[in-house]
Amino acid sequence: MGEKHILCIGLVCLDIISVVDKYPEEDSDSRCLSQRWQRGGNASNSCTVLALLGAPCAFMGSLAPGHMADFIVSDFQKRGISTSNISWQSLGDTPCACCLVSIANGSRTVTLYDTNLPDVTAEDFQRVELPHYKWIHWEGRNAEEQVKMIRKVEEHNSSCRPDQRISISVEIEKEREELYQLFPHGDLVFVSKDVAKHFGFHSAPEAVLGLYPRVKKGAYLVCAWAEKGADAVGPDGTVIHSDSFPPETMVDTLGAGDTFNASVIYTLSRGQSLQEALTFGCRVAGKKCGMHGFDGIV
Ligand code: ADP
Ligand code: FRU
Repeated sequence: MGEKHILCIGLVCLDIISVVDKYPEEDSDSRCLSQRWQRGGNASNSCTVLALLGAPCAFMGSLAPGHMADFIVSDFQKRGISTSNISWQSLGDTPCACCLVSIANGSRTVTLYDTNLPDVTAEDFQRVELPHYKWIHWEGRNAEEQVKMIRKVEEHNSSCRPDQRISISVEIEKEREELYQLFPHGDLVFVSKDVAKHFGFHSAPEAVLGLYPRVKKGAYLVCAWAEKGADAVGPDGTVIHSDSFPPETMVDTLGAGDTFNASVIYTLSRGQSLQEALTFGCRVAGKKCGMHGFDGIV
């Protein structure tokens, strides 16, 4: 069977990125400095980072056949990311999700065209060969279905040897009520700054302590906070912190959070500590912010 993989489940989309020296004014004509297509989506970006870090990984999400999907699949394959769990949807001429991204002075503005391709379901998940994976990460989307998938993994875990168990992580990034049911379902839970603010917290340490009662016993809760770095708490209740590692020049923050998540998962999946995972996550995410795309983060 070879080395066990890390599976990331969630969005893949096409990012059409224009790098501009300043955001265009309305009704103006300007040239961009460069333009590129990049495979995007949180779970898909995290796969890119895991692959660059050298971890065998696989993506699971929905695609619709067409030019965009051809580009996306060949990019996954170029990076050695398994695509065997992709769920192919055929809905007339519905294309894949697509994001128009402008990058200027290190900040990014995203306009998402979400084509409502159905997310993968618990039924699709039945086909996943669980013994091939050591870790499964869910980007919170269709949470009700995702909880069913996680239950399946929990059943699998309860019937196998401890060293064969699959670790479970979830990302709660969007301020959507439906996603909050994911809190008690991960061994590792990532909560975003936006969600933390939604719950009334003003910093990452406050958020991890305040939200910890929502996670399951023994879990880790992690919250990244852009230039402030990241904080986490585990079962012993101690808050762990890493500062950020800002690059000399902020170039491109698109996917910084996905890079952070992948680097934390990578570190923990190798048996290292929560502190090591946070510090490595911030270090790699900081490096990513100093360059376009992901190549060169390691
Ligand atoms: P995103 O905006 O992609 O969701 P986050 O705010 O979750 O990103 O940040 C993830 C990690 O990326 C942070 O913990 C930090 O290490 C790094 N990072 C993001 N933005 C910055 C920044 N402006 N300066 C330094 N590091 C950053
Ligand atoms: C970055 C990202 C981009 C995509 C957008 C979708 O985190 O996944 O690749 O354009 O977010 O919301």
